[in-house]
Amino acid sequence: MKLAIGSDHGGFALKSEILKHIQGQGYDVKDFGCYSTDSVDYPDVGSAVAEAVAKGEYDRGIIICGTGIGISIAANKVPGIRAALCGDCFSAKASREHNNANILAMGERVIGVELAKMIADIWLTTEFSGGRHSRRVDKIGDIECRYSK
Ligand code: RB5
Repeated sequence: MKLAIGSDHGGFALKSEILKHIQGQGYDVKDFGCYSTDSVDYPDVGSAVAEAVAKGEYDRGIIICGTGIGISIAANKVPGIRAALCGDCFSAKASREHNNANILAMGERVIGVELAKMIADIWLTTEFSGGRHSRRVDKIGDIECRYSK
C-alpha cells in the first residue's frame, strides 16, 4: 500500500513518530511535510496530501495537526476524499468499515503517541465492509456532484 503523510507544525512531532512506526512495518510512505516545527498553514499540507490521494497517486493518507480538525476540514474539501478524524480505536475501525475513509486525521495535542500508533495500525489494516455502506458512501459522492460546477 502506498501512503501519503503530512502535518503542520502542530502535528510535526506526532507525524515523525507515526512515519517511523509505519515505515518500520514496511509501508511505502511519502512525507508531504512539514519538515520542522516552523509555522506552516494546515490547509496547504492537508490539500497536498488529499489531492495526491484523490488522483490515485497514493492509496491512502494520514494527516496530523494540533487538533486534527483544521487539516481534516481542509482535506475533505477535495472531491473524492473522505478524511476521518479519529481519537480512538473504535472510530478508526468504523471509519474504514463503514465510511471507507481514505485519509486518517489525528491531533497531536489531543492524543498520545502510543494511542496514535494503535489507531494508525487498526486504520491501515481494516477493510471497507461494502454492502449497505457502499450505498451511503456513494451518496457522499452524489453530494459532491451536486456542488461541482
Ligand atoms: C496550529 O496552531 C493549529 O491551529 C493547528 O495545528 C490545528 O490544530 C488546526 O486545526
